[in-house]
Amino acid sequence: MKKDKNCVYIFDTTLRDGEQSPGNSMNTEEKLILARQLERLGVDIIEAGFPIASEGDFDAVKQIAKEIKKSQVAGLARANKTDIDRAWQAIKGAAHPRIHTFISSSDIHLKYQLKKSREQVLKEAVAAVKLARSYTENVEFSPMDATRSDKDYLVEMVSAVIDAGATTVNIPDTVGYAIPEEFGNLIAYLFAKVKNMGDTIIATHCHNDLGLAVSNALAGIRNGARQVECTINGIGERAGNTAMEEVVMALQTRKDIYGLYTKINTDQIYKTSRLLTQITGIPVQPNKAIVGANAFAHESGIHQDGLIKEKITYEIMTPQSVGISDTHIVLGKHSGRNAIAHHLKKMGYVLDDEQLNKVTARIKELADVKKDIYDEDLEVILSEEIYRGEDKYHLVYLNVVSGNVAIPTATMEMQVGKDVVREAGFGNGPVDATFAAIRNITKTNYPLMKYVVNAITGGSDAQGEVTVQLKYNSHSVVGRGAHPDVIVASAKAYINALNRLEILKSKGKNC
Ligand code: KIV
Ligand code: ZN
Repeated sequence: MKKDKNCVYIFDTTLRDGEQSPGNSMNTEEKLILARQLERLGVDIIEAGFPIASEGDFDAVKQIAKEIKKSQVAGLARANKTDIDRAWQAIKGAAHPRIHTFISSSDIHLKYQLKKSREQVLKEAVAAVKLARSYTENVEFSPMDATRSDKDYLVEMVSAVIDAGATTVNIPDTVGYAIPEEFGNLIAYLFAKVKNMGDTIIATHCHNDLGLAVSNALAGIRNGARQVECTINGIGERAGNTAMEEVVMALQTRKDIYGLYTKINTDQIYKTSRLLTQITGIPVQPNKAIVGANAFAHESGIHQDGLIKEKITYEIMTPQSVGISDTHIVLGKHSGRNAIAHHLKKMGYVLDDEQLNKVTARIKELADVKKDIYDEDLEVILSEEIYRGEDKYHLVYLNVVSGNVAIPTATMEMQVGKDVVREAGFGNGPVDATFAAIRNITKTNYPLMKYVVNAITGGSDAQGEVTVQLKYNSHSVVGRGAHPDVIVASAKAYINALNRLEILKSKGKNC
């Protein structure tokens, strides 16, 4: 990587730190789709996964490494030979591979988790970096729980791994404990005390337990960090990780303060956020900075008045700068295949013939019941037809009888693997009956934790978007489905949750 001291490199860990957090599991196809979009977004490094974690993780990292050409592709590995060898096997096909290896540095972790001495851990850190360097020149090292570590031990460890060949050293606030001044000071302390810093890039990796992840990352940057580890929509362990969109837009909007830049194509931010939501089914809160539904909505009369007179009165960045355009009618019943392809291309989606046929058929189907098709409708269709690759369960047909004099009954046919299974279900309403039919077909009975219906766009013919959350031992999975008929949308959401649960099970998450 050619280093520029005014550039803040963006290391996206949505597919690793983000993916390992509750409800965010993705299959290989979904990870690939997101990785392609991250590349379009312009991230410098994509942390594609933790190859030792499972066969699925290994395959996904390997495929991403094979396909992604511009961004570097990193694989995570604990500081041991088995992990590092496995990570290298997964990423070695990449145009720009990076091994990211880590071991804890805090006495709390050393005493209670690793049960090893400082000397032993230091030795393992150095050996890990040396081994990684025998595979590639691009090696990142993270002292986990750095912010709760003894500062001088941290200096010793950072110095030792730089000597061993680490080109990037990441300083994780693993448990989201730091506050901005403290985190900034820690980065400054490292720059002052690590004598062999040279060209090493210092990175931040801040978790959001106290809601300070972005502030901490920015404090790190102010003190010399030039790589930010972050995720789309801020997903990640527990309260999440540093939200990429927030750091990037803070750097851009307050260039007067930071004087730095990133290589992110900011007009791809909103699309990437929506894509992640479509894939995982986890929506962002409406008031979320940059990508929330209300982020650019001005409700107050005084603000609206100001905006009409001059945008700068209440707008610090434009919605267009993050890729939000006014919702507009895009397609209808008479739109042809070429027009559809053209419009999707403008949205950044290039489909092959088979995908385009599927999407065109779905658009025509929707246009029969909904007059105007918006970008949001298209995103839902794309997520259902294209992103969801290897699903076990598919809805074939659903027929529901309901009303105030009938016992609500759902008759349903589903494809389960290679079989087609038909069953009926009864309930206290049409949704309940539909879910009963799905449970009968799939022979599952996971507790339903959440059922939410929203309209995707305005109008009484809008598609209903349903979110379903199912509980699976100590995990929960979220499924989403959309259709102008909310009962069909409900069925799709439930089935999507079951499919996501299959991914979770395939990763061996049984408890
Ligand atoms: O939070 C953390 O410490 C991590 C490391 C693996 C970098 O995710
Ligand atoms: Zn983390």
